[in-house]
Amino acid sequence: GLPERVTIWEVGPRDGLQNEKAVVPLEVKLEFLDRLAGAGLTTLEATSFVHPKWVPQLADAADLLAGLVPRDGVRYPVLVPNARGLDRALESGVGDIAVFASATESFARRNLNSTVDEQFAMFEPVVTRARAAGMRVRGYLSMCFGDTWEGPVPVEQVAAVGRRLFELGCEQLSLGDTIGVATPGQVEELIDAYAAAGIGVDALAVHFHDTYGQALSNTLAALRRGVSTVDSSAGGLGGCPYAGSATGNLATEDLVWMLDGLGIAHGADLDALVATSVWMAGKLGRPSQSRVVQALSG
Ligand code: HMG
Ligand code: MG
Repeated sequence: GLPERVTIWEVGPRDGLQNEKAVVPLEVKLEFLDRLAGAGLTTLEATSFVHPKWVPQLADAADLLAGLVPRDGVRYPVLVPNARGLDRALESGVGDIAVFASATESFARRNLNSTVDEQFAMFEPVVTRARAAGMRVRGYLSMCFGDTWEGPVPVEQVAAVGRRLFELGCEQLSLGDTIGVATPGQVEELIDAYAAAGIGVDALAVHFHDTYGQALSNTLAALRRGVSTVDSSAGGLGGCPYAGSATGNLATEDLVWMLDGLGIAHGADLDALVATSVWMAGKLGRPSQSRVVQALSG
């Protein structure tokens, strides 16, 4: 059944901004993070310690962490792909990281310059060292439902690659519909495949992009299976520069509207979120894609 409470894993500052062509000024990123924390969100994925040429928008990760004034009770996880990224994250005093794997060979090559096996060889020392340093480690798995180059991805393949992230020592697995093609039946099927492999919903999160308008429906399917951590992006910003056809993430405001309607607790203040996304839209020079932001700010 439905969870009583959902943890919103806000990815706007990372997934939301990584695809923006024009570099967003550091002060704007810092204010964005502060406003999101002020709106009651408690997990803010802040940035990525990836190669600065691969994602120029997030090349300022160390400066961002240096300028961040952390709020009590808020976690600021960052993406880390390899040992160099972990070194940089440790230098910046980061407490939580996420590694990010691909379920398919095509996307592993494009996003990480690796094969599926090589990505695990890259992550293994990262996760081991991060855990030894007392960090929390999340694992992302991309292309869980469909892949730009390979088409539909078999559920057994996704279950098998995802299991390897737990074997490495990840505490949570976020199932990514990187290009936003999934439909709710597929979501149920994948969650059931994990359950059959001994991985329960408490260890899972869902990460939907809204390219085909299915993100909220897919989220509801996951909630009905009992998943209680949902990734979303304020204003529906986002997309992966290496995924070919990804648009924005599920909008945090759209998620909050649905959770409120279902009576599921989440701790966020919708008005403050909408105000933040309207402010951010002004900075980016285009309106928010979120229907709830549009409805409440019209
Ligand atoms: P590579 O070119 O194979 O790197 O990239 P390399 O290991 O061969 O190293 C080349 C040079 O880069 C070396 O420098 C390294 O030190 C340097 P040199 O010795 O030549 O002077 N280097 C670094 N510098 C700074 N920070 C680092 C770093 N690593 C190496 N971390 C690499 C491999 C993994 C680095 C690259 O492919 C990369 O950075 N990829 C990241 C791509 C990315 O960020 N994609 C978006 C996030 S994933 C996503 O959005 C999906 C998600 O939202 C879920 C979903 O929607 O499905 C999470
Ligand atoms: Mg994503």
